[in-house]
Amino acid sequence: MTYETLLVEQAGAVGLVTLNRPDALNAINTRLIDELNQVLDGFERDASIGSILITGSRKAFAAGADVKEMAPLCFPGTYLDDFLGRWDRVAQRRKPIIAAVAGHALGGGFELALMCDFIIAADNARFGLPEVKLGVIPGAGGVQRLTRLVGRAKAMEMVLSGRSMDAAEAERAGVVARVVPLAELLDQALASAQAIAAQSRTAVMMLKECVNRVDEGSMAEGLRFERRMFQAVFATPDQKEGMGAFVEKRPPQFGR
Ligand code: HXC
Repeated sequence: MTYETLLVEQAGAVGLVTLNRPDALNAINTRLIDELNQVLDGFERDASIGSILITGSRKAFAAGADVKEMAPLCFPGTYLDDFLGRWDRVAQRRKPIIAAVAGHALGGGFELALMCDFIIAADNARFGLPEVKLGVIPGAGGVQRLTRLVGRAKAMEMVLSGRSMDAAEAERAGVVARVVPLAELLDQALASAQAIAAQSRTAVMMLKECVNRVDEGSMAEGLRFERRMFQAVFATPDQKEGMGAFVEKRPPQFGR
């Protein structure tokens, strides 16, 4: 299967998607988000895939939603067509998704990265929500997600001024899990994705749900949910295998 805006491959148990609109710094148009959802649908169904990696080019993860596509849009068309409605499906996925970000991750590009479960950044990465400079605002959850990550003061300063942050600041602020040299980005992100894919699928997907609960509700509800998930994990063969292997001092063999 070939795509107009994406390169798609499988590296072991990792589904790898490369955003591929080099002439537009990977600006995200409707076609790209539809193709991305189609690919993610396939990865979710494919039992040979345990984790997903989304990346861009060395110059840009994605420099935003496609301004040339958006420029002529008007309300109520955006509302009636629920413009951006399909973006959030990326955040609803059950398998873990890592964003490997080099270069610009701006506007909708940053929002896409923030929908992933965590970001590994190259040292040349830049993150920002510059929409205010275009007379608009972010719309794909970036304000909500950034504010939860970095707190009100930094988020407010960034969205009101439109300034971006470099990789070091993003790491200090808790936006990215880790910064690596540009030349090592793909290898390190793939290694991380492979390591996750090698764990118990059940445990990994339960953990993703548990972490996501933090943002969805109260602490008490989150604690209850996490405890329930912990209790449920004892119904899986992976629990027997994982703990049994530890006791027997051997590597675990998780089922697929
Ligand atoms: C459409 C874009 C684009 C974008 C870059 N391009 N960003 N096209 N939408 N978001 C195109 C340029 O028009 C140009 O095409 C080509 O990519 C290369 O870009 P340059 O500007 O020439 O590159 P450079 O000088 O290196 O500058 C890089 C840059 C700049 C600083 C990232 O491109 C830039 O400021 N881009 C816009 C960033 C932005 O405002 N993002 C937020 C978009 S709004 P041509 O044809 O001229 O060669 C948004 C709303 C989200 O994301 C709402 C919810 C999803």
